[in-house]
Amino acid sequence: MAELTNISLARGAPSLDIVAVDALRAAADRAFERDPGGMTAYGTSPGYTRLLEWLSKKHGVAPDRIIATNGSMQADAFLFSQLVAPGDVVVVEAPTYDRTLLALRKLGAEIVAIPLEADGIDVDALAGELQAGARPRLAHIIPNFQNPAGCTLSLDKRRRLLELSGEYDFTIFEDDPYVELRFEGEQHPTMLELGGADGNVIYASSFSKTICPGIRVGYLVGPKDAIAGIRKEATETYISPNMVAQAIVAEFCDSGAIEHSIATVKEALRERRDATCQALSRHLPDAHFVVPEGGYFLWVDLPEGTDGNALFEGARERGVTFVKGTDFLLEGGESSLRLAYSAVPPDQIEEGIARVADAYRELAGAAA
Ligand SMILES: Cc1ncc(COP(=O)(O)O)c(C=O)c1O
Repeated sequence: MAELTNISLARGAPSLDIVAVDALRAAADRAFERDPGGMTAYGTSPGYTRLLEWLSKKHGVAPDRIIATNGSMQADAFLFSQLVAPGDVVVVEAPTYDRTLLALRKLGAEIVAIPLEADGIDVDALAGELQAGARPRLAHIIPNFQNPAGCTLSLDKRRRLLELSGEYDFTIFEDDPYVELRFEGEQHPTMLELGGADGNVIYASSFSKTICPGIRVGYLVGPKDAIAGIRKEATETYISPNMVAQAIVAEFCDSGAIEHSIATVKEALRERRDATCQALSRHLPDAHFVVPEGGYFLWVDLPEGTDGNALFEGARERGVTFVKGTDFLLEGGESSLRLAYSAVPPDQIEEGIARVADAYRELAGAAA
């Protein structure tokens, strides 16, 4: 029997064919040529100056409101460590990024999970929790093409969240690594922009999804005092982030290569998103999903009672992996799954979903 190709619908990472390897290599050459001393030195904890200047222009904020870190995960870790003490209440979306849940659990936060709707977090449910006495320190929100659900926060809800954060005095942690990857529809302003310099917003983004994750460059933008505290913690943790990587990213951005890279990634991901939706409609008509307008992921709800663990095993036996819905929730999600279409070409997506559907039919048959 011919061996099955393994198909990963689990990894939220780009496939190599959409990483701009040659342009990155050229940017690295130019960066070493231009500033060999600066990029091989320790540098300073806020990050490589040329990158901070580019980010400062991009976001229209002073450089002292920015810190560039080793991936945005590092930024998240600093932020949580500064703001969250054991017992502090933190609002998250349900479902949300699994690593956020892990980090908050490790810190001993009291997690309040608010359901996600097709247009983002259910702000009425959040308002209800606040009226009932919840006093969060922080609300973690992934506004665009959410991981894992693929949905996007509407403009009205962005405004409402800002109002609630002002009224109840909590910080919005706007975690936005997918913002550049919109395939269609209208781009909404970030809550960072809507809230202005004095807003209660700390914004995070990353080059992992627009250049490549291995470069490990992400950043935070926030109020000057909050960023100063995080910069201090960064110095104490690692002296400075990876200057070589940040100098290459700065050159890649300044030269405009990033625009080409984003265009390539978007075009490929749009095709992969379409292939995923078509394959689901064709092979798995029981699947309910919100069509993502961008990003890497799609969330699938199967009929209640579907055993997600058994489906996972059945798919694995057929050479396909995905992430179980339960990984992204404190409770529930047993009959849901996250499909990442970022790492797989369209023909393999079709094949992968056909195999998942085969496993599903076997389960449904066994249950009947
Ligand atoms: C919502 C969210 N935040 C943060 C990250 C971490 O990104 P980075 O590679 O910049 O550390 C990811 C990566 O998948 C993510 O989905």
